[in-house]
Amino acid sequence: MPSNDILDWNTEITSTFILTESRVNVPFRCDCLNNGEFLGHVFSYIVSANDTYDLIATRLYSSLTNKELLMRDNSYPENNIPVHVTLNVTVNCSCGNKDVSKDYGLFITYPMRPGENLSYIALVTNTSSRLIEMYNPMVNFSAGSGLLYIPGKGLSGIHVDKSVEFSYEELAKSTDNFSISNKIGEGGFGTVYYAELRGKKAAIKRMNREGRTEFLAELIILTRVHHLNLVSLIGYCVERSLFLVYEFIENGNLSQHLRGKDVLTWSTRVQIAMDSARGLEYIHEHTIPFYIHRDVKSANILINENFHAKIGDFGLSKLVESGNPTLNTRFMGTFGYMPPEYGHSGVISRKVDVYAFGVVLYELISSKDAVVKEDGVDEARSLVALFDEAYSHSNQIEAISRLIDPKLHDDYPLDSVYKMAQLAKACTEKNPEMRPTMKSVVVALMVLS
Ligand SMILES: Nc1ncnc2c1ncn2[C@@H]1O[C@H](COP(=O)(O)OP(=O)(O)OP(=O)(O)O)[C@@H](O)[C@H]1O
Ligand SMILES: [Mg+2]
Repeated sequence: MPSNDILDWNTEITSTFILTESRVNVPFRCDCLNNGEFLGHVFSYIVSANDTYDLIATRLYSSLTNKELLMRDNSYPENNIPVHVTLNVTVNCSCGNKDVSKDYGLFITYPMRPGENLSYIALVTNTSSRLIEMYNPMVNFSAGSGLLYIPGKGLSGIHVDKSVEFSYEELAKSTDNFSISNKIGEGGFGTVYYAELRGKKAAIKRMNREGRTEFLAELIILTRVHHLNLVSLIGYCVERSLFLVYEFIENGNLSQHLRGKDVLTWSTRVQIAMDSARGLEYIHEHTIPFYIHRDVKSANILINENFHAKIGDFGLSKLVESGNPTLNTRFMGTFGYMPPEYGHSGVISRKVDVYAFGVVLYELISSKDAVVKEDGVDEARSLVALFDEAYSHSNQIEAISRLIDPKLHDDYPLDSVYKMAQLAKACTEKNPEMRPTMKSVVVALMVLS
C-alpha cells in the first residue's frame, strides 16, 4: 500500500519515524465473506522463517486477527508452516448497524490492549462512550484484549492522539542527559529535572519505577485536566523508566519561600492559600472521576513569577495506586500532613486533603515546618498539636499571636490572621466529617481576603 494512503488516515503522524507500540490506522475494504456469513478482509502474508500462527496474529498483525482464524483459513499444520508460502489472514470488520445510525459508514477494527478501558478508548478515538457501547454490545471493555469496532463519519476525528508521548531520546536531550546541573529536586517518587523541550521550559520527573502501559490510560486523562491552579502535565514517556513532563513553574515551591530569606507578605500568603484551595476544589468537585491528591504539602505547592500558586504532583497517587502495589516504595502522604484516620481506618476520603491543606494554612501563618522540633524538647511535634495547644490556652489570642511568623513583624491585620487560623483549625478536626469541604474553604478564604 502506498505510504501516502496510510498517512491520509493518520493525521497525527508528522515525522518520518513512528514510535514503537503506537497505533496506526491502515485502511482496507470490508467484504462479505463466506457467502455473507461475516464481514472481513483477507490479507495475504508471506511466511518468514520461525513464523508461527500465534506470532503472526499477535505481533505482526497486532492482534487484529487470532490463531484460530489463521488455522481455519490455512491448511498448514501449526508446527510446520513452510517458509515463503502465502497465508490468508482474515481481519474482521464492521460496516455498522442501520438501527443505530446511518451516519456512520466507516469503522476502525480496534484491538484492545491491557490497561485500556471504555473511557480511555473513547478519549483517544474521539468517540463517545455511548456510541462505542452501542456498536459493541457484548464486549468487556477492560479485558485488555479482543476487538472493538469504533464508528466514525470520515477522516476527521479518527486519529489516536499521541502528541503527549515523548521518546526517551528527546527527554535525555532536553535535560543534557539528566545531568546533575539540571536536577531541581528529589521527592518520594523520583527526581525532577529542568528541561528545555521543543522550545519550552519543562520539569521532567523521572519516577522510581518502570514505565508500563497500564498507566497510559490514566496518564492520557491527566494530561487533559487543566486548571489555572494545577501544574499541567504536558506528557509522558514510558521508555526505560516512567517519565512525567510538566509545565515548568518559575519560582520554586511554597516551602522554600516560607523558609527562605525573602518574606512573603500577608496578602501574598492569602493569595497562595486561595489559589491552592481553588486547585484542590477543582480536583475534588469538578473532574470525573474526582481525585484525592493525598500528598498536599507546601513542597507540592509551586509558585509562579506572579506569586500565584499551583498544586503540583496531582494525579500521582492515583498513578502509583493503579500500578503493582508491591512497587509502591512508600506510604502515601508525608508526616505532619496525615490526618489521624489515615493510620486506623484506611478509608481515604477527600477530607484527607482538607486536613493537609489546614496544615499548609498553619505553615502560612507561622512559617514553621509541619513537624516542629523545639529547643530543649526531645520529641518533635506536629504543627497541628502546637496550634491545638494554643487554642486550649487560657489566653487564646495571645497564644496564637505567639505562633505568627515573626518575619511579618506587625505588618498584617490580626483579624485576617485569626480567621485563617480558625479555618485551619476546622480543616484539621480529628473527625473527618467535621472538616469543611474544599468548596466551603474557598468561600471562607474569599471572605478573609
Ligand atoms: N513543574 C515544576 N516546575 C518547577 N519545579 C518543580 C516542578 N515540579 C517539581 N518541582 C520542584 O522539584 C521539587 C521536587 O519535586 P518532587 O515532587 O519530586 O518532591 P517533593 O515535592 O519534595 O516531594 P513529593 O515526592 O512528596 O511530591 C519540588 O519540591 C519543586 O521544588
Ligand atoms: Mg512533589
